[in-house]
Amino acid sequence: MKIIIVGTGYVGLPHAAVCAESGHEVHAYDIDDNRINAYKSGDRAQIEAHVNEPGLANAIQDTLDRYLFFSTEIEPIIEGVDVIFMCLNTPPNRDGSSNLSYLINASRDVGRALAKRQEKKRVVVVNKSTVPIGTARLVERILKEEGVENFGVASNPEFLAQGNAVEGSRRPDRVVVGADTPEDLELLRRVYNQFTNHVRIKYIETTPETSESIKYMANSLLLTYISYWNGVGARLAESYDNIRMEDLKRGVTADSRISTWGSYVSNGAGGSCFGKDIQSLMYQLNQAGQSTDLLNAVYNINEYQKSYLIDRAIYEGGFNFNQKKVAILGLAFKKRTNDMRDSAALNAVEALLGKGVSEIRAYDPLAVDTAKNHWFNPSKNHLFERITYHDSPREAIEGTDAVYISTDWEEFRGLSRTIETTVDPPYLVIDGRRMIPDYQSLVDRGFTYLPVGGPVKKLA
Ligand SMILES: NC(=O)c1ccc[n+]([C@@H]2O[C@H](COP(=O)([O-])OP(=O)(O)OC[C@H]3O[C@@H](n4cnc5c(N)ncnc54)[C@H](O)[C@@H]3O)[C@@H](O)[C@H]2O)c1
Repeated sequence: MKIIIVGTGYVGLPHAAVCAESGHEVHAYDIDDNRINAYKSGDRAQIEAHVNEPGLANAIQDTLDRYLFFSTEIEPIIEGVDVIFMCLNTPPNRDGSSNLSYLINASRDVGRALAKRQEKKRVVVVNKSTVPIGTARLVERILKEEGVENFGVASNPEFLAQGNAVEGSRRPDRVVVGADTPEDLELLRRVYNQFTNHVRIKYIETTPETSESIKYMANSLLLTYISYWNGVGARLAESYDNIRMEDLKRGVTADSRISTWGSYVSNGAGGSCFGKDIQSLMYQLNQAGQSTDLLNAVYNINEYQKSYLIDRAIYEGGFNFNQKKVAILGLAFKKRTNDMRDSAALNAVEALLGKGVSEIRAYDPLAVDTAKNHWFNPSKNHLFERITYHDSPREAIEGTDAVYISTDWEEFRGLSRTIETTVDPPYLVIDGRRMIPDYQSLVDRGFTYLPVGGPVKKLA
């Protein structure tokens, strides 16, 4: 199959690499020439500067210029194409609705190019982006307006989790395809032939609207489950003594009907999808005159979770942040990625700066450049000049009055030894990821330990 991938970000690039691995001829197209040049170079560091995912650089290097090609122009690659995957960003508008401008612009470009094909063989344009219900019809309209002949539009939402994008694309739990005609479903079966008769992978064919809805229902349900643990489990264990969070989790999830995934407490779920998708779903339901009380509560619980530990430090820990130095460990929204979109670290930094800290000493194994150049660029807000970046947790902690653990990087597990040997009490450890199970030795030495999902621990 000849496949074009439009948009080569966190979704498009792994998808392109995995389609190329399965032997398709894949042309990945993006308007961002920095990205395309980086990918074309095959150089690991350059690829990872844009999308840092385990196994991705290798997958690109293995297929580059044989099955996988990159381009900033669509017309030269359009002839003979069978399937076009639209992997554009769909960020939220201020009112929660999805901003479809990237998808619409790209659809126009694709439409203009398709209209100029010599050979008018069947082509399917597939939305892999997360898009509101009815967007397949919108793309269909745009392509018709551009004069495209013999095409279908389908929905094939992406379910990968960042940090596991390549493996998630190689071995997904399910592939959902929504299309209108048997012919288009058959074309997509040929793209995904390694998954269609798989013993474990569910291959689901349905209508475009059902497929679009599956993505929103799934993401909002995952966030609902996470928010149940944060909004109920964490609150319980923070309110009553002697509740062991990890035992609570084991006991509840021992029921085979209850998922272990998501049964953790944390400083909130970040990333580009959960918050945006639940907001978009609420908007869509509200537009249809439906109430969204449950989704609203889920969203609010998750947002509250991202900065409430700073408030707890003040009200329960008696800590005054004014003119203090605070280390923040972890900037990425979760481990194994450099992505900071909707990361809890953004809320924590904003809260800390608002409380008047004199310095935030940051460490993250992957996301420092993302933070420096984009999120905490001092040209956006002069207060970001108070953030300094360091090469190890120890270096970040040096000379500080408190540390805030924001991301679940494995290297933060058991950080108590580093803390004990770097700073002296009085000192506050805020643990947004429950990374320090052996906190008792810290407490015995006079440190204050404030975890998500547990009361403040300090010497009586
Ligand atoms: N990131 C995830 O983990 C994830 C998981 C599942 C679904 N999704 C969904 O997939 C979609 C893409 O997300 P992402 O994280 O890959 O976004 P991204 O921002 O990482 O990538 C989008 C890419 O599209 C390119 N682009 C923008 N306009 C273009 C145009 N007119 N022509 C060609 N390229 C253009 C951008 O340059 C960028 O490279 C979103 O709808 C998202 O909700 C994301």
